[in-house]
Amino acid sequence: MSQTPEQKTAIVTGAARGIGLATTKQFLAEGRRVAMIDRDAEALMAEAGALENVLPVVCDVSQPEQVDAMIAEVAGAFGRIDALVNNAGVADFGPIEETSFERWRTVMATNLDGVFLCSQAAIPELRKTSGAIVNIASISGLRASTLRVAYGTSKAGVIQLTQQQAAELGEYGIRANCVAPGPVRTKLAMAVHSQEIIDAYHDAIPLNRYGSEDEIASVIVFLCSDKASYVTGQTIASDGGFQSTGVGLPALRT
Ligand SMILES: NC(=O)c1ccc[n+]([C@@H]2O[C@H](COP(=O)([O-])OP(=O)(O)OC[C@H]3O[C@@H](n4cnc5c(N)ncnc54)[C@H](O)[C@@H]3O)[C@@H](O)[C@H]2O)c1
Repeated sequence: MSQTPEQKTAIVTGAARGIGLATTKQFLAEGRRVAMIDRDAEALMAEAGALENVLPVVCDVSQPEQVDAMIAEVAGAFGRIDALVNNAGVADFGPIEETSFERWRTVMATNLDGVFLCSQAAIPELRKTSGAIVNIASISGLRASTLRVAYGTSKAGVIQLTQQQAAELGEYGIRANCVAPGPVRTKLAMAVHSQEIIDAYHDAIPLNRYGSEDEIASVIVFLCSDKASYVTGQTIASDGGFQSTGVGLPALRT
């Protein structure tokens, strides 16, 4: 595909695998150029090497100087930034009493600071294109549960941050929305989901299964598109019905 200055672009953080990689591929399929951002250089280069119309940039989204340099590199290479998907995230589940300040900070640094930093740095470019921000939260940010004091709180912060962005950036024509995925079998989830947790999720989810990376990516790509041009400040749960179902007692299922 030839590259033209009119061709739309997107930045996807955490693009080396999982939901970020699926989102990258869907953007490419609709003709966008994509800046793939990840701190895992080896995985990023391996995936990006197999794709066309991508710009891989190694960057830790929790580090302000790296984020500023990344946005400058993407703006320079592409000439425009039409969408920013803040997808990079880490999961660390544990009881409150065993969550050291260091573990808490590690989760907040990527999941919440990273979203703030990347969005803020991209604003000047997004203003020029009336671009879109999509932040990736989680059902853990919509409903509290055990073991997620840091992860769940970081994701609830992402939902509020999205609303703040929508409120303030709307006058620049920038839209900000949020996707709250249910469980997806990525490396992140499998590191913290035991078989017992997997079974319990199946019981609590009306569709009775985990989602796929592509099922999350398609909501992200929709929210970045002109089809969502009057949607801002919203959080969409792509979760098989988990969020809408209250406690979803397995004993009440037929
Ligand atoms: N998988 C799920 O069940 C699930 C559910 C709800 C929400 N989410 C959210 O979806 C997003 C993507 O998750 P995933 O399951 O695809 O995870 P994943 O672990 O498969 O991929 C995450 C990617 O982000 C990168 N990354 C992590 N910290 C980074 C940092 N500071 N800077 C740059 N890159 C960094 C990792 O290297 C990795 O490539 C995360 O925000 C996660 O919290 C996932």
